[in-house]
Amino acid sequence: MNYQRLRPLLFMLPPEMAHHLAILSMKFMPPKSVASDPRLATQLAGLDLPSPIGLAAGFDKNAEVPRAMFAAGFGFVEVGTVTPLPQPGNPKPRVFRLVEDEAIINRLGFNGRGMEYVVRKLADEPLGDAPNNKPGQLGVNIGANKDSPDRSADYRKGAKRFLPLCDYLTINISSPNTKGLRDLQQGDELQHLLGEVLDERRMWHEESGRQVPVFVKLAPDLEEGPLSEALAQLVATGADGVILTNTTIDRPHLLRAQDAKQAGGLSGKPLAVRSRIILEQAVGMLKGRLPIISVGGVHDGQEVHDRLTMGATAVQCYTNMVYRGPRAPSLMADELCACMDQAGQQSLSDIKKP
Ligand SMILES: Cc1cc2nc3c(=O)[nH]c(=O)nc-3n(C[C@H](O)[C@H](O)[C@H](O)COP(=O)(O)O)c2cc1C
Repeated sequence: MNYQRLRPLLFMLPPEMAHHLAILSMKFMPPKSVASDPRLATQLAGLDLPSPIGLAAGFDKNAEVPRAMFAAGFGFVEVGTVTPLPQPGNPKPRVFRLVEDEAIINRLGFNGRGMEYVVRKLADEPLGDAPNNKPGQLGVNIGANKDSPDRSADYRKGAKRFLPLCDYLTINISSPNTKGLRDLQQGDELQHLLGEVLDERRMWHEESGRQVPVFVKLAPDLEEGPLSEALAQLVATGADGVILTNTTIDRPHLLRAQDAKQAGGLSGKPLAVRSRIILEQAVGMLKGRLPIISVGGVHDGQEVHDRLTMGATAVQCYTNMVYRGPRAPSLMADELCACMDQAGQQSLSDIKKP
């Protein structure tokens, strides 16, 4: 059935229930595999991507449907955030659709089945190592338990467990719904945490010969000074990329939906403005020293084209899956190709970077 027709029915359900239903339908009726246009092939931190459009973390927290998400057309899929121990997250309701704004507010608080469950999922259903049977690149996004006495140790545990099972690892220190988590984006705490994870990565490299890229996901609410400091630390410690950004605690004035004042992180179209600003700032600060994955309000292929033109290497999205449905990645890929046609660009490398 056409998603735009189904959407009013789905939107009658509470958002979390609709999401569970979406995951179930992806699991038991996975979409037919969409072939990527070869013009969209690109590289991210040494990883070959069939498309620069990736699935952002949070949609498939427990790695239930990565294969179906690749089939839907994503070039890379990030599962998680995964915490070492299972945890229930915040009390419900904790996800709100802002339909008039094509946005979502969530305060889930890292609800998930925990590391061992996700390890089993990924180990039981390997995506395949051979380049010709690999649908895209799989990332695991790791976090810390709410009540953990040592958050750095939680990230280290996640790294140790998932490095053998993923193509890249993301350190999520930017969710607004776990108290104090965003403090890890700064100073000694950031340095210590990165040191722990990168040490684990070095050990896995020595053991396996595989160097797994490590990305760090930051918040859109960082001012220019702290952003610059955090990026400088990522470069200095040897991280391989930065994901900009997570959801925002800010509320742009233009929001119209009734639930706009709910506490939590805002995502979707209204986040695009802030996400673009921070992308522009980071491009200027990094000067090509780290690839940037731009996230936040990436809604259509034009927006993907704009972010790549601004200097992002790849993009991710979540909220547009809710508003455009499971065909979103393939629609975006078609729209991106149309933008490239219009600009006379044969491949992504023809897109001019600043
Ligand atoms: C319901 C929901 C849950 C999310 N959970 C996570 C998460 O567990 N880890 C994470 O790094 N980001 C999480 N995010 C943030 C997204 O990955 C993304 O950074 C953000 O939504 C902005 O992209 P978008 O505007 O395309 O949705 C979540 C977003 C939503 C809407």
